[in-house]
Amino acid sequence: MSWIAAGLGTATAWADKLWIRVSTRLPHRLTRDLILGLSIGIAFSLTSTRLAIFAQEWRRSRATKSIPRRPIEVRSDEAVPGVVGLIGNTPLVRINSLSDALGVDIFGKAEFLNPGGSVKDRVALRIIEDAEARGLLHPHTGSVLFEGTVGSTGISLATVGKAKGYEAHIIMPSDVAIDKVLVLERLGATVERVPPVSIVDQNQFVNLARRRAHEFGNVDLPTNSTTDDIVVSTTATDDDVHGAPTPRHRDAVEHKPRGFFADQFENSSNFDAHFRGTGPEILRQTGGHVDAFVSGAGTGGTISGTSAALKRAVPDLKVVLADPEGSGLFNKVKYGVMFASQESEGTKRRHQVDTVVEGIGINRITHNFELGEAIIDDAYRVTDAEAVAMSRYLVANDGLFLGSSSACNLVACVRLAKTMPRGARIVTILCDSGARHQTKFWSDEYLAKHGIPIDVGMIADLLAA
Ligand SMILES: Cc1ncc(COP(=O)(O)O)c(C=O)c1O
Repeated sequence: MSWIAAGLGTATAWADKLWIRVSTRLPHRLTRDLILGLSIGIAFSLTSTRLAIFAQEWRRSRATKSIPRRPIEVRSDEAVPGVVGLIGNTPLVRINSLSDALGVDIFGKAEFLNPGGSVKDRVALRIIEDAEARGLLHPHTGSVLFEGTVGSTGISLATVGKAKGYEAHIIMPSDVAIDKVLVLERLGATVERVPPVSIVDQNQFVNLARRRAHEFGNVDLPTNSTTDDIVVSTTATDDDVHGAPTPRHRDAVEHKPRGFFADQFENSSNFDAHFRGTGPEILRQTGGHVDAFVSGAGTGGTISGTSAALKRAVPDLKVVLADPEGSGLFNKVKYGVMFASQESEGTKRRHQVDTVVEGIGINRITHNFELGEAIIDDAYRVTDAEAVAMSRYLVANDGLFLGSSSACNLVACVRLAKTMPRGARIVTILCDSGARHQTKFWSDEYLAKHGIPIDVGMIADLLAA
């Protein structure tokens, strides 16, 4: 047994040595307390971070769950009830070339797939249905929708109008691509093209549309609205409108043709179309996992309505405006002022938004922009050359043939992606197709004549920078 005793003695001696070693290395009591405090702090902060993430996930899933099931699904096996049933529920497509180059996910809401070819179908439908619900419009009465537009909203009003029983009378600036005029004419709309002038001019396209709606009837009907500038005139007589409210009078007023000014810039049905449609659809399509939303603004309805719906579910979402050359909104978002006061729309009697990009950029604050202004976090200015380069790059690399505002949005997406962590998820709007812009934005001759370069290499440089 002596070998066991010897072994035990050796082990004890070894343990003693180890203890002396460790104990001499143990930190001073104060240091120990510090380490202990630090460990508790780290554990607490990890727990609170997890709690914050959990709360965010819970809020996100609650918000996405509260979105009503879609009534229709384009590309499903169901039949949809007419052209109006094709509006909305557009796919969300990953832009592979840009996403892969940057290590992020850039998604585009394919609004060009709406039956009228743009994001504006949602707005036209909402404006008409809200007006019907308010008793301002009655279908199949020979009533006419009047609107001032650079084209897309006109095409959408003409499309939805025909489907629902209304005519369309569209006033456009004469410098807009002729492609849209041709579509409007094919859709049976009356088109007036007027010189591009400032909003203070009575013949500016929006002012003229309002006036035409007045002129259509004998009497203006009350709209009972303090927020928009909708005009509804009727061909009924003054006596029918203001006489004793007998069933005969009411019937005469309801069945007579009306002139209705849709007023996309100030009418909050525009905001609502995106707040109730585009935004919730994006939440559903991303499961609420979206870090940023990028959009240009014409009337402001898209950026305001969509962002408001997204931010409700994802409060730390970043909202970024893509603004073309000549527009004052970039300065408004970045610095709180649109431009030097002498340049404001209304003081200079000239068309202000000097860009080849159509549909976005403006030099006044509309009601629909105002509704979302406070939640726009940042803005990027996009040059015509960059938008043109992006459009050509997307055709070459993704097979996507897009219009100018979509290209502008995607330039801003790339800039933004470079400031965000890898794996970030950015959503933007693909507003319309390149087919609407053949004679200007997509015409090499037109661009050459106006000194706008076509340099696809610009996008490779932007991605590499
Ligand atoms: C092609 C196109 N893209 C974008 C927009 C801008 O959308 P919003 O008016 O909602 O700001 C418009 C507006 O007319 C447009 O025509």
